Amino acid sequence: VFVVTGGGSGIGKALARALAARGESVLIVGRREALLQEVARTSDLIQYVCADVSSASGREVLHAYLRGVPAIRGVVHNAGIIEPIMPLMDITESQWRQIMATNLDAPLFLNQLLKNQLVGGRVLHIGSGASHHPVQGWSAYCVSKAALSMLTRCCQLECDGIAFASVMPGIIDTNMQAQIRNAHHMAADKQDFFIRLKQHNQLLSQETVAIFLCWLLLDTDTDTYVSQEWDIYEKTHHPLWLRSPHQVPIWE
Ligand SMILES: NC(=O)c1ccc[n+]([C@@H]2O[C@H](COP(=O)([O-])OP(=O)(O)OC[C@H]3O[C@@H](n4cnc5c(N)ncnc54)[C@H](OP(=O)(O)O)[C@@H]3O)[C@@H](O)[C@H]2O)c1
Repeated sequence: VFVVTGGGSGIGKALARALAARGESVLIVGRREALLQEVARTSDLIQYVCADVSSASGREVLHAYLRGVPAIRGVVHNAGIIEPIMPLMDITESQWRQIMATNLDAPLFLNQLLKNQLVGGRVLHIGSGASHHPVQGWSAYCVSKAALSMLTRCCQLECDGIAFASVMPGIIDTNMQAQIRNAHHMAADKQDFFIRLKQHNQLLSQETVAIFLCWLLLDTDTDTYVSQEWDIYEKTHHPLWLRSPHQVPIWE
């Protein structure tokens, strides 16, 4: 089974459906049961568990659900939040902690809970270009994703038998982009950039990202899988997975 956190919407939903289309069993996780149910209804291979991965008790719900499963083929840590988008000097401690708990702590502590079942399997951390490029108003998000990138490297160093990788999935047409377009505390030029990408149809589709992630999870050998922080905009790997009608927009 593949576990996909945040599988009720966006990239996670598209990935769950793409994995199932390739014959893989998938367990999706999220907080909103109605969304998870809708995704699970699309395939007999998709199951769901309702859990908040930012809390130890939520992670325990997932752990308990998987107790009878001897081996997990992969875990995709995709659940993530960017809000509140606000000035670094105004963010409250609890707002900061919620972003860290979701984007950084959940992957670490779920990996701990599932480590025995993951031997021989793969872990994929969904990162972001924001881990390398600071954006005004996104401080907690940028810091959490930068830390997640380093967490991947530390896991690679310490955890024998499990293949870890992280990926920058690009700028994708999901609800998170709508939150960015509607945010009140971003530099106007930066926000205009994201608004224009949407207007000019230059956002990646969720389905294209899902095909890329499926290729990483199912079709690469282990040495290749762990070899780099993957970037969907990097063209050298496109011939290996990118087929029409899927496309990766170029906006530079
Ligand atoms: N869209 C982009 O342009 C972009 C770019 C770079 C990276 N990413 C990354 O891609 C990942 C997916 O985001 P998306 O763009 O697909 O946006 P999205 O549709 O908002 O997906 C985020 C998912 O995470 C789940 N989630 C959030 N907090 C959770 C929690 N505490 N416990 C369990 N599930 C939780 C949400 O479901 P519930 O609210 O129901 O729990 C939702 O399904 C994120 O890690 C994001 O940082 C996105």
